[in-house]
Amino acid sequence: MKIGLLTSGGDCQGLNAALRGVAKTLANSVPDVELYGIQDGYRGLIDGIWHRMKLREFSGILREGGTILGTSRQPFKTMQDIIENDKNKLTMIMENYKKGKFDALVILGGNGTHKTAYALSQNGVNVVTLPKTIDNDIYGTDYSFGFDSAVAKATEYLDVVHTTAASHGRIFVVELMGHKVGWITLYAGIAGGADAILLPEIPYDIRHVMSVIEKRNQLGKKFSIIAVAEGALSKEEVELPKKERKNSESAGFTSGSYLVKKLSERLNQDARLLVPGHFQRGGDPTPSDRILCSRLGAKAGELIIKKKFGYMVALRDNSIVPIPLSEVAGKLKTIPLDCEVISQARLIGISFGDT
Ligand code: F6P
Repeated sequence: MKIGLLTSGGDCQGLNAALRGVAKTLANSVPDVELYGIQDGYRGLIDGIWHRMKLREFSGILREGGTILGTSRQPFKTMQDIIENDKNKLTMIMENYKKGKFDALVILGGNGTHKTAYALSQNGVNVVTLPKTIDNDIYGTDYSFGFDSAVAKATEYLDVVHTTAASHGRIFVVELMGHKVGWITLYAGIAGGADAILLPEIPYDIRHVMSVIEKRNQLGKKFSIIAVAEGALSKEEVELPKKERKNSESAGFTSGSYLVKKLSERLNQDARLLVPGHFQRGGDPTPSDRILCSRLGAKAGELIIKKKFGYMVALRDNSIVPIPLSEVAGKLKTIPLDCEVISQARLIGISFGDT
């Protein structure tokens, strides 16, 4: 049995732990399995770059961040791009899959990766996928791996900034990753004691954000911490047609820098921006992520042994289950506005900038 493994898209904590889970499961049940590491995600399949891996290469990597296989972004929309001799990327991948005589591919990736994996599966490639992304926006799974680790990193930032914010009586806006969804901001915002949490899913009104700060000041709390997702927009911005947004006042700003500007113009209080950026994707996976990755890896290995292809392994109600790629590809898991986490956060007085 010849299996190709690849990690695709932005990296995250837990990729190595998941690869280890797949490799150990396969090797334990199929002693003559041949494992091939495909270099830099789909790029390696397009260019035909892979290498045979020994089982021991998957040892000692449980807690290592990043990916031992390397990764790259190959957006789904570029899969039709012609690479050589009238062949597009998708055709090259399928040709190389056949040339490599692979029995199956194990693909670890996020939303874009799943669209390509589904297209491959529809074209007869045997595929099993694992849900990877710090953004937690993959449809069909309760959590993707990397999310818990990113929340831990973002929380560390929010924790640390409290002391200096309090000493100086400042407002700190902490801009967290998530262009389309605000899962990291929501969870880290609660864990890190943010006073307001601004999400792409809930357009905010600057007046409500200001009133959070003013009320705290009246209570003698001279500092405020606001967690804002990269993709959060004010109500004014949302109302603009997308084209106009490019020429609007907010163009050239990030969500965080725009908010700092707005607050600084309106309040007589120092407002500062903190952007942890890729710090959120770096370092070791948390114990929860290591467990999730090991379980997902084991299930992916099991599906391959049973020759059950065309599935993503997912966490559902604390069970690991296979979900058909047709149910996953092309869908985005945004935060449901009526979810308990939001209503409970509101109960403890966290503002979402909408009321
Ligand atoms: O998709 C994961 C993610 O970390 C997003 O949260 C973030 O907006 C983006 O990737 C950053 O991408 P890159 O590493 O390519 O700059």
